[in-house]
Amino acid sequence: MLALFTLPQASNLAKSSDDLFNFITVVDIISFIGVILAILYFIIKYHRTKTDPEKTPYIEGHPVAEGTVMVVLFVLVMIMFAWGWVDYVKQLDVPRNAMEVNVTGRQWLWNFEYTNGRKFTNELTLPIDQPIKLILTSADVLHSFFIPDFRVKQDVVPGTYHYLSFTPTMTGDFQVYCAEYCGTSHSGMLAKIHVLEKEEYEKWQKKWEWEKILGVTPSEASDKSSPTGASPPAMESPVERGKKLFTTKGCNACHSVTGQTVVGPALNGVFGHDVELADGKKVMADENYIRESIMDPNSKVVKNFQPLMPTFKGTLSDDEINALVAYVKSLGN
Ligand code: CUA
Repeated sequence: MLALFTLPQASNLAKSSDDLFNFITVVDIISFIGVILAILYFIIKYHRTKTDPEKTPYIEGHPVAEGTVMVVLFVLVMIMFAWGWVDYVKQLDVPRNAMEVNVTGRQWLWNFEYTNGRKFTNELTLPIDQPIKLILTSADVLHSFFIPDFRVKQDVVPGTYHYLSFTPTMTGDFQVYCAEYCGTSHSGMLAKIHVLEKEEYEKWQKKWEWEKILGVTPSEASDKSSPTGASPPAMESPVERGKKLFTTKGCNACHSVTGQTVVGPALNGVFGHDVELADGKKVMADENYIRESIMDPNSKVVKNFQPLMPTFKGTLSDDEINALVAYVKSLGN
């Protein structure tokens, strides 16, 4: 009914967000008209006339009227708050079957990496009706990942991970903007999200793999009697990269992935669970906790362990940290 309705409602979060904005707008319009009418009424009723030069009366408060206004306003504002809160929590509540994509913002483009290692710049292809979890970080300065058609926006911060969870509900191309001023080409920091039907998505995946590996499309591949029917070789996924780094960077000297305690805690079964710390507190082992434990190991020491681990700040690239986090995550359950 109002301005937002010109945008498609292309995710599961869009409708409720629009409804809330419309509710707020309607409340605003009604309040505005009410206030203006009251002003006009009082101007007409109480204006001073030349024929009636009486003294301005001293007016006492009116508890019932004031109380009513306060209660009504309080209730309206609380409805807006609760509605927004419920939507916000819905956004944070990532479904178990969510498809994960790593997103890195940098001056001035967006990098996307799928869990199987496929990377794209400024283009993200997603299947419809599939819950998505974007894991966002920045390689340099603050950015903000904004998809107006999905009604989602999340600040992207260097050195930490933020999440964005939604389910695309409409096929088509949707524009991504950077919504945080980040330098000269901020306004050019654009990406496209392509949402495909499930089968189209599968086809796209196959086609992309062949093109990437053979430099040809599947039809050309069969023309040249390439190994048709054989599945294309797998690419190195972040988990595999992380597994290698785990050895080359020496993590395995202190951390087992089989449950034995070496110098530091074993890392299998950690991700996604609560970890008990030396100071008695508990912390949820999510991406940010793993990252922090690599960069600043002594800030949250696990119970019954000594703060012995050196920091890896400055010795690992963002990509390597992402890979290590992905590997530890894969040991989670
Ligand atoms: Cu990135 Cu603005």
